[in-house]
Amino acid sequence: MKLQILQNEQIAGSVMSIKIDNPGLFTARAGQFFMVKINDFNYPFLRRPFSITYFKDYIEIVYKIVGEGTSMLAKKQKGEFIDMIGPLGNGFEIVNSKKILLVGGGIGFAPLRFLKEELKGRSFDFDSFFGFNTKDEVCVDFGNIATMDGSYGYKGSVIDLVKDVIDEETLIYACGPSVVLSKLSDICLEKNAKMQVSLESRMACGIGVCLGCVIETKNGMKKVCDEGPVFDYKEILWEKM
Ligand code: FES
Repeated sequence: MKLQILQNEQIAGSVMSIKIDNPGLFTARAGQFFMVKINDFNYPFLRRPFSITYFKDYIEIVYKIVGEGTSMLAKKQKGEFIDMIGPLGNGFEIVNSKKILLVGGGIGFAPLRFLKEELKGRSFDFDSFFGFNTKDEVCVDFGNIATMDGSYGYKGSVIDLVKDVIDEETLIYACGPSVVLSKLSDICLEKNAKMQVSLESRMACGIGVCLGCVIETKNGMKKVCDEGPVFDYKEILWEKM
């Protein structure tokens, strides 16, 4: 489906926010994603997966410029159209809990911002923790922030920032690099906390056909695009990620 771009702007360092017209034809839940075709011509050949950051009167996707595809996307102007398939994937399962924490590393904050809106809509109490390398990368306007170089907020990793808050009554929703999620998983296991993780993965089709996103889990092989991207952390074989 071709949807019109309403705005495409830089919000931090190499981080962009693209807002797209929402035709109101479908619903979405936090943790789901769109497969986006950057150009009408066949380059880049494959669609790219992007988490949904906001979904109401418009669709927002926050993305980082990391290669040719995202560089091309960053040049798209208001009024142009992009071809999107979605929303895809399972999304987070919203469960009430005494203590809900959103924990994101880098651009992993993107689906958690959408989740924040869903939790607010249900009057669930929660707190948020996000980690970035430097102040330049900070692109959130809520929650507790850590930067590795100490240029903004707490100095250190988001793991250091959040670890003492986690206990057996905690339910974490997390997204970010697998190294961050893996460390978080160790802490959750130790403290007997619950956690749903949204995995970042390379995807070619996004609809369960190409098998390009398959991971080995404790429950067999799973397609991140189709059976994820959200999994219970205990299911993941972190040493294989
Ligand atoms: Fe093709 Fe998941 S990306 S099966």
